[in-house]
Order: sequence, then C-alpha cells, then structure tokens
Amino acid sequence: MKNIHAVFNGEYKDLDKIKVSPLSRAYTFSDSVYEVIPFFNENIIAFDKHIKRLSNSCSSLNIDADIEKSANEILHLISSSNLKNGYVYYQISRGVDSLRSHIHNNDLKEESFGYVVSHSFESKDLKVAICEDIRWQRCDIKSTSLLGNVMSMNDAKNHHCDEVIMHKNNEITEGGASNVFFVLNNIICTPSLSTNILPGITRELLITEIKKNGISVEEGTYSVENLLEAESVWLTSSTKGLAQVSEIINQKTRIKKNNKIFNQCKSIFDRAFLSSC
Ligand code: PDD
Repeated sequence: MKNIHAVFNGEYKDLDKIKVSPLSRAYTFSDSVYEVIPFFNENIIAFDKHIKRLSNSCSSLNIDADIEKSANEILHLISSSNLKNGYVYYQISRGVDSLRSHIHNNDLKEESFGYVVSHSFESKDLKVAICEDIRWQRCDIKSTSLLGNVMSMNDAKNHHCDEVIMHKNNEITEGGASNVFFVLNNIICTPSLSTNILPGITRELLITEIKKNGISVEEGTYSVENLLEAESVWLTSSTKGLAQVSEIINQKTRIKKNNKIFNQCKSIFDRAFLSSC
C-alpha cells in the first residue's frame, strides 16, 4: 500500500509507523473527537468552520486541546502532500490513562492524530435505507463514538445501500455520515439543528449559498411520510458534497433523479466550492 502521510502527537510520519497505546481513551472509551477537512484544487473548504467545530467538540467534552497546533498540523499535512483534491482526517483524544477508568484524570495530555489522502469529489447517486436512529442524545458533538451509525450503515450495506436516513420517533434526523435535504412541493426542506444531528458544514455552506441566490430553504421538523412524499432527496457531507438519492429501498417514493431544484442547488454549490480552475 502507498504510504499515507500522517501526524501523531506532533510528529510527522507514515500512517503505518504510528504506534498507539491500548490505554488511549480513544481506544477504550471513544473519548475523542474528529474532523474531516476537504480540499479541492488545493483550496481548503471552510477551514475556519472545521477548526471552530473541532474546538466546540473539545469544549463539549472538556478536552483541553491546543487547537491552534492542530490547525497548523492540518495545514501542514495538506501543503506537504502535493495532492490537489483530498481530505484530512484529524482526531483528538483526551489522552492515555495509566489504567482504564471511566473517570479520567484531569492532567491527561491530549493525543492528536491526522492523515491526508486524495479524494475525488465526483458525486455518486445513492441508494439508501430508512432506519430508526439508535444513537445517543448528543449527536451534535463530532465524537468518534459512532457505533449507532456504523451498525445502521453496515446493515444497509448488506441490502446493497450506500447510506441510511435515520429517524427518531418518526422525525427525520440525518444520514449515517451526512445531512439530509429534500424537495417537497417545490420547497427545499432540511431538519433544523438540534442535539440529534451534527451541524454539518456542507449543510451550512449550501444553505448560505442558495439563499444568496434567492432560493429559500425551510429548516424544520419533518416526518418519514414527508420524506417519502418528496420529489427529490439529497445528502450533504464534506466528502460527498451534494449527492442525490436515487432510491429509498422498500419504500414507495416520488423521487425522480435530476430534479430541477436539486440541479440548481448542485450547480450553485459546485460553482462556489468545487469550480475547476
Ligand atoms: N461525516 N452528519 C454526520 C453523522 C456525519 O458524520 C457527517 C460528516 C455529516 C456532514 O457534516 P459535514 O458537512 O461537516 O462533513 C453529518 C464525515 C464526512 C465522516 O464522518 O467521514
């Protein structure tokens, strides 16, 4: 396998040379947070927003991290990679315990880790499954505790799906690794921010850009039935950009590909963030 350029606790090395203690709290408790920072044509997309969210995630978990150092490491990984298009995965854990204990010492030293890889931002149509949202109640924190997402997405994969759209008490929350948008009676709808969803940066960028173009977006509470009545559904994330849903398995829907409003949003987004030089 090709070497993957990485950093661990401030030291740059190949990913496969990094050694992690089994008592890292990232390992024993998922006591860690992360970001996925995309870059396209060597431009980092919404860098400050990713750093701010990383900082918010650390604050929510009371992880005392040097965010400026992390920001510099992310920049260095990208600039030294010679890649045009890709993303950085960057994680901060609370640190390494001397023995596993739910209650952590207050003097642990944060443990940080990141790598950079190439990525194509060509969006692919998605086949999705609808499922119950079985996750915890602080999905607004970008923590690495993602077992609910992992279980649901792998169940869906066994049905040849690429993603899931989750609901809690019949209310649509988000995708397994994305936010949800849909067009209902020509209105663009997306679940409003709450502790049940991640405040997606692609979601925010898209809402801002389409509003700038005079198109309105409704943020609200939507049922599974609302979603199934939609003319178009798409998912957003830092790695997917805007990816339309072509099929929701085992459901009767009115989804048609290349809906006019979806195409408009996609070209606005691509022009703003992914336009080729
Ligand atoms: N995930 N919701 C969830 C649960 C996510 O995991 C993600 C992104 C999003 C979209 O957030 P953003 O637009 O800021 O990427 C929403 C990343 C890409 C991942 O875990 O790989």
